[in-house]
Amino acid sequence: IPVDCFDLVVFGGTGDLARRKILPGLFRRFLAGQIPEDARIIGAARAEIDDTGFRAFVKDAIMEFGGKAAKQTEAVAQFLERLHYVAIDAKGEVGWAALAGLMRDDVVRAFYFSVAPALFGALAERLHQHGIASPESRIVVEKPFGRDLESAQKLNATLALHFTEHQIYRIDHYLGKETVQNLMAVRFANILFEPLWNARHIDHVQITVAETVGVGGRGAYYDKSGAMRDMVQNHLMQLLCLIAMEAPYRFDPDAVRDEKLKVIHALEPVRPDDIVRGQYRGTGKGTAGSYCEDAENPDSRTESYIALKVDIANWRWKGTPFYLRTGKKLRARASEIAIVFKEVPHSIFGEEEGWRENVLSIRLQPNEGMTLSVMIKEPGPGGMRLTEVPLDMSFAEALGEDGTDIPDAYERLIMDVIRGNQTLFMRGDEVEAAWAWTDPIIAGWEARGDKPRGYDPGSSGPEDALMLLHRDGRRWREIRE
Ligand code: BG6
Repeated sequence: IPVDCFDLVVFGGTGDLARRKILPGLFRRFLAGQIPEDARIIGAARAEIDDTGFRAFVKDAIMEFGGKAAKQTEAVAQFLERLHYVAIDAKGEVGWAALAGLMRDDVVRAFYFSVAPALFGALAERLHQHGIASPESRIVVEKPFGRDLESAQKLNATLALHFTEHQIYRIDHYLGKETVQNLMAVRFANILFEPLWNARHIDHVQITVAETVGVGGRGAYYDKSGAMRDMVQNHLMQLLCLIAMEAPYRFDPDAVRDEKLKVIHALEPVRPDDIVRGQYRGTGKGTAGSYCEDAENPDSRTESYIALKVDIANWRWKGTPFYLRTGKKLRARASEIAIVFKEVPHSIFGEEEGWRENVLSIRLQPNEGMTLSVMIKEPGPGGMRLTEVPLDMSFAEALGEDGTDIPDAYERLIMDVIRGNQTLFMRGDEVEAAWAWTDPIIAGWEARGDKPRGYDPGSSGPEDALMLLHRDGRRWREIRE
C-alpha cells in the first residue's frame, strides 16, 4: 500500500533505538520503494551536530545494523539526502523555532518520541506551543508506557492535553512481527481452526518468549522493571489477546482493539502459587556471571524470568489455562505459541499405541512458521501403530523468500504510522487495563517479600517453573531454536 509524502521527526534521533532499529529500518523501506520522493526524515536530539554529522551517524548505523541492504552503497547515499537534523532541547527553547521552520504544510507530519518517557510531556507541549503539530499530526511513543496503572494514566493524561487518541501511536514492537500478524490471518481467514478454538477442544496454551541475552548494558532500566513489566504486561499480553480474542467484525483499528480489551478485562487475578519468578545466577565468585552483577545491584530481587498460569474468565476459555513464560539467558532464543489440543473423546486404538495430543505451534522467531503435529499410522506391516508427524510450514519458504526479506517489526509499524493505520498500536484504555491486571500481581509478591529462584544461565529456567505444569499433568515444550 503506497504511503503519502511525509516529514518524520525522530526525537532521540541519535539514540540507541534510532541507531539499531528505526533508521536502518527506514532505509530498508526506502529500498523497497516505500519512501516517497520528497519525504524527509528529521533527526532531533541534544547532540550539537548538523545535517552532515547526522548523515554520517546514520550511514554508520546502516552499515552496522542494515544487514544485506547496507551493501547497496549508491542507495545509501540517495537515502542520506532525505535526512536532516535539528539540535533541540526538549525542555528548553533551543531548536524549536528551527524545527517549526522546517515543517511543511501539505505532507503527513509524524513525530517519533524515541526518548525517555519522562520527556513525553515536554515534547508534546513544545510541539503544541510552537504550532508544529497540526490536528492531523501523529506521535509515536515507545515503551515503557508507564510502570504501573497510575503512571500510565498520568502519561495518557499528559499526552491527551495536546493530542487526541487518533493521533497517538503506542508501539509494542511485537505487534509488528510477521508471525504475530499471521496469528490473525490464520485464525480469521481459515474455516479450519475457529470451530476448535475454545475450551472444549483446546487443553491449554503455552506462550514462550525465551532470550539468550542477559541484561548487561541496560541493568539500570531493567532492574526497576523485571520480566513482568518489561515483557509480560506488553508483549506476552498482546500475544495472549490475539490468541484469545473473538473475531472482530472487521479488520479495523478500533474493532480489533475492542476485542483485545475484552480479553484483558476477562483475565482472572493470578494466584501466588501460579507464579514462578527466577533470576539467573552464574557460577563465578560472588555475583560473577549473574543477574545481580549485570544489574549492578548485589541485593536485587528483580526477576529475569517469569512463568505464570493465567485463566480467562469467559465462555470461550473457562477451563483452558494459558501458561506464559519469558526470560533472559535461557538456552535458546526461541519464541513460540503452542496450542495444545485435547485428547480424542475415545481411542479406538487402545491406550498404549503412542498417542500424543495435536499441537499447533506458531513460531515467532527464529524460523517463523507453523507446525501442526498430527497422528498417523507408522508405516510398515507392524500393525496399527500410531506415530506423530509434523505438518510443517516455514513462512519464508512457503512464500518463496529467503527469510531476510521479512520486514523488521519497526519498519512495518513506522509505515503504518505514515498510512494512519492504528490497528497494530495499543490504545490508551488497553494499556491501562493491562496494568490494572499486572499491578496486583507485582504488589502481591512485593508484599510477601518473595525472592526469585536461581537458575543457571543457558538452562530452561528455574526448576519450580516445571512444577507449574507438572502438577496439572502437563509439560512445557522444549525451548530450542
Ligand atoms: C524489549 C524488551 O521490549 O523486547 C527487551 O525491553 C527484550 O528486554 C526485547 O529483549 C525482545 O524483543 P525481540 O524483538 O528481540 O524479541
